[in-house]
Amino acid sequence: MKHYNDIVATLLAKAASIPVAQALPLIEFPPKPEQGDRAIACFSFAKTLQKSPQEIAATWADRIRSQGLPDEIARVDVQGGYLNFFFSTPKFAQDLLTEVLSQKTSFAKTSIDPKQTAVIEYSSPNIAKPFSIGHLRSTNLGACLSRVYTYLGWNVQRINHLGDWGTQFGKLITAYRKWGNAQDFDQDPIDYLFKLYVRFHEEEKDNPQLTIEAREAFSMLEKGDENAKELWEWFRSLSLKELHALYSKLGVEFDHIWGESFYIDQLPALLQTLHDKNLSKLDDGALIVDLKEQNLSVAVLQKGDESSLYITRDLAAAIYRFQEFAFTKMIYVVGSEQSLHFQQIFSILQLAGYDFYDRCQHVAFGQITFGNEKMSTRKGNVVFLKDVLARAEEKALSIVQEKNPDLEHPQVVAEKVSLAAILFADISAKRIKNVKFDWDEILSFEGETGPYLQYSYARAQSLMKKWEQDLRPIEDFSVFTDPAELKLLKTASQYVFALEKVVQENEPFYLGKYLLDLTKDFNRFYQACRIVGEEDAIGNARASLVQATSYVLASGMSLLGIPTLEKM
Ligand code: ARG
Repeated sequence: MKHYNDIVATLLAKAASIPVAQALPLIEFPPKPEQGDRAIACFSFAKTLQKSPQEIAATWADRIRSQGLPDEIARVDVQGGYLNFFFSTPKFAQDLLTEVLSQKTSFAKTSIDPKQTAVIEYSSPNIAKPFSIGHLRSTNLGACLSRVYTYLGWNVQRINHLGDWGTQFGKLITAYRKWGNAQDFDQDPIDYLFKLYVRFHEEEKDNPQLTIEAREAFSMLEKGDENAKELWEWFRSLSLKELHALYSKLGVEFDHIWGESFYIDQLPALLQTLHDKNLSKLDDGALIVDLKEQNLSVAVLQKGDESSLYITRDLAAAIYRFQEFAFTKMIYVVGSEQSLHFQQIFSILQLAGYDFYDRCQHVAFGQITFGNEKMSTRKGNVVFLKDVLARAEEKALSIVQEKNPDLEHPQVVAEKVSLAAILFADISAKRIKNVKFDWDEILSFEGETGPYLQYSYARAQSLMKKWEQDLRPIEDFSVFTDPAELKLLKTASQYVFALEKVVQENEPFYLGKYLLDLTKDFNRFYQACRIVGEEDAIGNARASLVQATSYVLASGMSLLGIPTLEKM
């Protein structure tokens, strides 16, 4: 429904003698119905035009009226220093419902011409360690952003920067050689590797020889030693298998699983470039880039034993991805604790003359905490996603069974409800904030939750079943007069603006917030307006509105990765 903004902008442009492109960003969405459907604040023009905002608004309103209003606009008012546009309700309802009912769950899908590329990096767990709840945030936020960008016409390249290289593999290889056995490993690979890792750290305390052996093992691995490489590949492939199962459960996909190991061959050339540009220097045997002038401390590129580091591999990755995709944007969805790391990367890229450095962005997020219940943290203070999912499913099952004892396949429903609860809770506030998981809160069917969206969707579905008729084209759009109907129509039309905000700020929160608004408006409409038993033309129009709302809701939920349910 963006063309309504174009119409308003065109009217304003003519009246104010400014280009349409300048008028468009001035358009606001007034909070109250009596302020119309769109507004323009005239305050910023007062200085240049040497008139009060009220006078400006009044002059422009006169000019717009005298041009003759298009069908879409019923009237233009002046309130304070604002110009307020009121849409013609029947025409607006007709345009909106025609669009939604024909485009269905692709409503507001758009394309950029020419297409622009966004590289979105997310999830990126460390394969030798269990998938933590922190990685869930990256996975969910990144997958959601990827879907929204794609929906709005971007060419998206989804990358999983798997932590599959680094000194921890030296430790694992050493631990496996000492204590490992294939059978246990096969059974539960990631868990088993983690146990080895934990044991290594415990024994290392009393046995410094282990530290030396591990360092050597990693160094051998980097030099291409066959036996070390074989073990590493085996660890990697079994871990990946387990990861894939998790991703499919979460409905998350990638275009490229390019882990840190992928860039190893590119490191010598990178180091040469940084050397040639006089950026790197030796410091106590280690190769560093001094970023003190940038207030970013010192970045270590290579240790004394010549083994590579996390940041070195990240630099190679950034350069490689730009060569591959010439992206417009590259976003890294990674926790805020790594902010210095990314600032260092972007700064080194800039110093090295890679102009694309300013197309890169760290999309940071806070932590998940657990409210009144302590989640088992095993060793090392990490909460594992596996445990969280299991706990959520168990809780959801008891809620579902209590609410609806006759429900078929309660286990399947519980799985979807728990997923909705977790994924929605994750985006229920701006990403930089910490999120508290309080099970009762996030699983509630009435609060601002994922299950609430599912519940409302299921309610709309059952309403459509009760209506029992095929929807007919609406003949008279002036039947929509109830404030609850008008509000729902208006909110439904704003879907695209919520999606655009998600992309502008890399903030899935705006989509979650929008779907809550839509759902609340739907539930108010549902309370206020009868459908079954209503006069036929009105019933048909209202049922069409229900159908349209379900399409928008289903579309938005799928962008969030939240499954819909017909019954719950
Ligand atoms: N594997 C890292 C971790 O678990 C996250 C990787 C983030 N991405 C990056 N390009 N450094 O902490």
